[in-house]
Amino acid sequence: MISCLIFLAMAYIALLTTPSFATTFEESDGCKIYDITQPIRNNMASFDSNIGAGQVIKENYGRVTVTGTLVMSTHVGTHVDAPSHIFKKLLNRAGFKVDSLDLKTLVGPVLVVETPKDSNITTQVLESLHIPEGTERVIFKTSNTDNSLMDKQEFVGNYTGFTKDGAKWLVKNTRIKFVGIDYMSVAIKDKVYSVYKRLLKGNSIIPVENLKLDGIEPGPYNVYCLPLRLIAEAAPVRCVLVNTTCPMENGY
Ligand SMILES: *[C@@H]1O[C@H](CO)[C@@H](O)[C@H](O)[C@H]1NC(C)=O
Ligand SMILES: *[C@@H]1O[C@H](CO)[C@@H](O)[C@H](O)[C@H]1NC(C)=O
Repeated sequence: MISCLIFLAMAYIALLTTPSFATTFEESDGCKIYDITQPIRNNMASFDSNIGAGQVIKENYGRVTVTGTLVMSTHVGTHVDAPSHIFKKLLNRAGFKVDSLDLKTLVGPVLVVETPKDSNITTQVLESLHIPEGTERVIFKTSNTDNSLMDKQEFVGNYTGFTKDGAKWLVKNTRIKFVGIDYMSVAIKDKVYSVYKRLLKGNSIIPVENLKLDGIEPGPYNVYCLPLRLIAEAAPVRCVLVNTTCPMENGY
């Protein structure tokens, strides 16, 4: 009995300390769905906060049912940014909030690339990745994943992101419209405004932030990212990758 309890306690501790990998669903037809969304949970990390996002989900016990209340920043967890996130004057104009983002950008072929561990995403790094011409969607797997930054409640300010010159290079030299990253911002912390300004200016690039990429191998996939249709400057999104050999056209 006691050994059983000890075993349970150890299993529980293991569960608490093992970084959780992206969930994979595999079908016998060879289709794999990788859930690359951060589970939204209480006390999860939040931008610039030492104590995390706090209690984001509160369960209210009624007589018969349980009804949760959700209170959180639109930038907590895996989310997309709309241009009005950085250009405040667009907040009151139609077409610049999440409800009208181009879903064609958020669904389709994507390339997952791994970036060098010792650098932010600079011009030099982007050139070294040799992303094929014409690529429209790229997910950058960085040292943020290796360092399990999202498993820490405390915000880590020296995370890997785009530098100003990296953002400029991407806009000028590629057709990339979907930029995915594995921590809270595509931009390094001390250049947030200038990086976003470049990426969000033409209302064509959509940053997808806080992706959960543990266990995801670099390479081609199909991505499906569908944000909540919030009339807001950002929104939580559920993102999955599907292997490119998955025969999606196989009927009903
Ligand atoms: C970030 O800071 C931590 C703690 O100071 C340090 O251990 C780590 O190497 C730094 N990482 C980067 C990418 O600068
Ligand atoms: C990336 O930029 C941040 C912010 O300037 C910095 O703290 C961090 O050390 C840089 N990371 C690397 C790997 O150089």
